[in-house]
Formats: sequence, structure tokens, C-alpha cells
Amino acid sequence: MEKEIRLDKFLADMGKGTRSQLKEAARKGRIHVNGEVVKKADMKVKVPGDVVVFDGVPVSYVTMEYYMLNKPQGVVSATEDNRYQTVVDLIEGKNRRDLFPVGRLDIDTEGLLIITNDGPLAHRLLAPKKHVDKIYYAVCDGFVPDSAVETFAEGILLPDGLKCLPAKLEIKARKDVDGKPVTEVFLTIREGKFHQVKRMMEAVGCPVVSLKRLTMGPISLDETLEPGQYRPLTEKELELLNSL
Ligand code: URA
Repeated sequence: MEKEIRLDKFLADMGKGTRSQLKEAARKGRIHVNGEVVKKADMKVKVPGDVVVFDGVPVSYVTMEYYMLNKPQGVVSATEDNRYQTVVDLIEGKNRRDLFPVGRLDIDTEGLLIITNDGPLAHRLLAPKKHVDKIYYAVCDGFVPDSAVETFAEGILLPDGLKCLPAKLEIKARKDVDGKPVTEVFLTIREGKFHQVKRMMEAVGCPVVSLKRLTMGPISLDETLEPGQYRPLTEKELELLNSL
């Protein structure tokens, strides 16, 4: 569907600068529409339809963007941060300036994170009432007891008073690493309370050593993505998300 938007909004949405920077850019003749130089950044352009060129480079207007990121450690799940690189900074190929991560992973957690500007989609994945499953792979200190499987299935009560929803714990392996016992587990939770996986494992005496998110609802981490790498979601993945 064709719509009209202001040229400065068009270019600001595509990350080409602030409205005042774009006003100045227009004044300097850096913006062309349909081959004509445009000196007033508040003119309306047709989307799709009009051809907008900024500094000699054509700019397409993209309404929605969706990426799958394998979040690396050391990067924060935020849009801006004074100290750390953010997950949005990692998306170098982005068009939109209003991308955000769907939910948060701790700075030391790796794995699946969806980055988009689709607010309703984020709501469908995150709203507590939706109970979207998330599967985590964790390496924990010590040998996780078999009894934890039932404790989690019933909904563990954490020492700080949080009663968790029923969760599925699968013990993958117990082993010795450098003479120390560790357990690899898969944990499926249907909520996303602060440090939830870490708090749950701590409560059964086995603190998390490393944590990676593998799935979120119908979306699984593409294992070909190294930590820090990303790709656009596929049509199939978008269909799955739209059916939530
Ligand atoms: N649970 C945690 O403890 N940390 C995360 O990053 C995600 C889930």
C-alpha cells in the first residue's frame, strides 16, 4: 500500500541522521527525489514510489526488520549503553534506527536473540500470559541431582520467594572437568524473570557456569551462526512467529 511520509522522517528512520542534520543536508543539496535536488526536508514522498537518493546513494524505505543474532558474551541486551557494546550495535546491515532486542539475555549469556522493530511481535513473544517456551543449555557447577527434575516440573519455590512455573529439566551429562564435577543440562522455562535460569540452578545447589539460549517459541538458534553473527529471519520463521 502506498503512503506519504515526510522526507526527513523517511531518511531519519533509515538511520541517515537526525531531523536537524537532514534539514541541513537538504539545504546543502545532498538529497535528491526522482532525480531532482530537494532543498526542503519536510516535503512528502510516496512510499513505495518516489526514488530517494542521499549523498548519491539510493535509499529504500524498510518498514520492518527481523534478525536472528547469536548473542556473544560481553555485549548488553539494550539499544544504547555508555560502557558496553549493545546487541543492536552488532547488526551492521540494519536499515532502521529503531531496532531493539526481543527480551534480554544477561551480559555473560550467549545464544538466540531476535532483533526487530516489530513491537506487537515482541509483545506476542514476551507477554507473561503467552507462556512462550524458551530452551536454555547450561553448564552447572556440581552434579545436579535427579530430584531437581521433579522439583522443577512442580514449579520450584526460590529462596527469595519466587514461585516458578513448571519447567522441564533434562540432565544431558555429568562429568569431571579438571577434577571438578559439572553437569550439562537443558532447561525449558515458560517465563523470563530476572536471572531466572541462574536462580533456579543455584536453588538446587548447582550454580550456572555458562548459559546459552537455544530456542524461543517456534524459533531455534541457527547453529551455523558463530557468537556475534546474525542473519535475517527467513519467511518460514516469520510465518511461525506470526502464527503465535
Ligand atoms: N536466565 C538467566 O539467568 N540469564 C539469562 O540471560 C537468561 C535466562
